[in-house]
Amino acid sequence: MKKPHKKPNIIIITGSVGAGKTTLAQKYKKQGYTPLDVNQLIKKHKLYDAYDHKNKCFVVDEKKLATWLEQRIHQAKKNKQKLVIDSHLSHYLSPKYVDLCIVVTCDLKTLYKRLKKRGYSKKKIEDNLQCEIMEVCYTEALEKGHKVKKVR
Ligand SMILES: Nc1ncnc2c1ncn2[C@@H]1O[C@H](COP(=O)(O)OP(=O)(O)OP(=O)(O)O)[C@@H](O)[C@H]1O
Ligand SMILES: [Mg+2]
Repeated sequence: MKKPHKKPNIIIITGSVGAGKTTLAQKYKKQGYTPLDVNQLIKKHKLYDAYDHKNKCFVVDEKKLATWLEQRIHQAKKNKQKLVIDSHLSHYLSPKYVDLCIVVTCDLKTLYKRLKKRGYSKKKIEDNLQCEIMEVCYTEALEKGHKVKKVR
């Protein structure tokens, strides 16, 4: 008999900036998952090196972030808590901590509109659209060895 499919306890959601990661993560609440928005955690726990005034964003200390998330996952497992971690950096985590990596994709027209609405510079919009065109998060997640599911 085929083994029943084991439900993932630790899910990460990655994808280009503005693709819809946080929106999707919130939908997992109904299934008993605790969503962790890494953008908020970085600010709350000061997991950054500096603030980049030119690009208007924090320069993340990736090592600090990884350590923080690994400890958080460890704690969740101990408490039998299910997590959904959302960030375009989430796939940098080692697959040994993660059951499933969801890559959110978005059509370019929609993504352009979303980024424009945020008031991003032309350069920042172009860079992020390029990231989506090149499927950077998807490729990196596969290379890292995650079990990957692409959604739109
Ligand atoms: N499935 C969807 N249908 C309609 N609108 C959506 C959908 N997903 C996201 N959006 C909208 O797109 C915008 C960006 O979504 P969201 O904040 O979830 O993206 P994100 O990937 O988390 O962005 P960031 O990388 O900045 O954290 C929001 O205004 C959200 O309401
Ligand atoms: Mg988000």
